[in-house]
Amino acid sequence: MSGHRIAVIPGDGIGKEVVPAGLEALHATASRFGISLQLDEFGFASADYWQRHGTMMPADWEETLRGYDAVFFGAVGWPEVVPDHVSLWGSLLQIRRTFDQYVNLRPCRLMPGVRSPLADREPGDIDFVVVRENTEGEYSSVGGRVFEGTERETVLQETVMTRTGVDRVLRFAYEQAARRPARHLMSATKSNGISISMPYWDERVAEMGGRFPDVRVDKLHIDALAAQFVLHPDRFDVVVASNLFGDILSDLGPACAGTLGIAPSANINPERDHPSLFEPVHGSAPDIAGQGIANPVGQIWCASMMLEHLGHPEAAAHLLGAIEDVLALGPAEAPLTPDLHGKGTTVELARAIADRVRERSPI
Ligand code: NAD
Ligand code: IPM
Ligand code: MN
Repeated sequence: MSGHRIAVIPGDGIGKEVVPAGLEALHATASRFGISLQLDEFGFASADYWQRHGTMMPADWEETLRGYDAVFFGAVGWPEVVPDHVSLWGSLLQIRRTFDQYVNLRPCRLMPGVRSPLADREPGDIDFVVVRENTEGEYSSVGGRVFEGTERETVLQETVMTRTGVDRVLRFAYEQAARRPARHLMSATKSNGISISMPYWDERVAEMGGRFPDVRVDKLHIDALAAQFVLHPDRFDVVVASNLFGDILSDLGPACAGTLGIAPSANINPERDHPSLFEPVHGSAPDIAGQGIANPVGQIWCASMMLEHLGHPEAAAHLLGAIEDVLALGPAEAPLTPDLHGKGTTVELARAIADRVRERSPI
């Protein structure tokens, strides 16, 4: 029996709907595999907390979360109440940076039973991971406004690339590629237009490649790469990208693979000096929040990634297998949510997956 302490932060909007769904599947899997979990739920990193306290997180958030083995996170952002840059820099982005979660690992797979909006694409055609740099790059708070309110008003925001920051995420991406059968790494660049930081990124990609002779590496400018996601998603195995490019690709990929609603992500501190954070790729989806129809699969897949990270690969694979089994039934047989062309609810789909966790034989 192994025990893990997990901090649970539902956040805003559909975060509050998909997190309980994720926990149901997590509990079913943990009890099947004899894994003991201690879960503590926190209400901060939400617009409700902001309304009560005027900040997104308590002053001691870092000490509080540091004691956990992982954070299971929903989504944050409710622009009607607090501007997005304030809520995100006051919570999720601060957590990623403070805990040095410099890898954002975002798998993208066309699952059996899920329809891709791309013509004639089948499971197997889309199966790649995006490795997104997660603590620097275009997401910097370096910059500012000058001459405000005048004709000379000027706004600057710097991209920051450090050798340590770039190399460590590239190393992780090459290691991922080296472990996969295709052993291919695609680097997202834009060194034709972004003339300082992106040529540097390309140099570091080439340099790091010297340590991974078994990995084939290519690069594409981000504009062409985005087009290739749509035209030839089968070309991709591991994609490594800067913070902003990785953000965009990790919404585009899941959209090509049917829906953003099933996409998971792991914000990882590979050295394990700090807890890693597991959250779906999607946000709080104000347009569907409160209707009970959010797809819980992204959050449930996060539970699988978290179990893997915590050292339970069999439990993780079992849970992912249960997700696949239920999706494969299709909207006629399973309570799939509307984004998967079904009529099911968040609760019904989560229940079906948790039931499947209990029923299916271990791998
Ligand atoms: P979003 O991901 O919340 O929604 C984009 C679209 O996808 C919407 O039409 C939504 O209904 C749909 N969608 C998203 N998740 C779904 C699910 N599980 N099931 C079915 N449909 C789903 O992106 P947005 O609208 O740009 O952002 C809304 C808020 O969330 C903003 O405040 C934004 O800053 C925040 N956000 C937070 C995170 C995060 O916490 N990691 C990520 C992205 C956006
Ligand atoms: C994501 C989100 C965040 C990001 C936003 C909400 C700041 O889009 O996790 O992909 O850009 O990293
Ligand atoms: Mn995003």
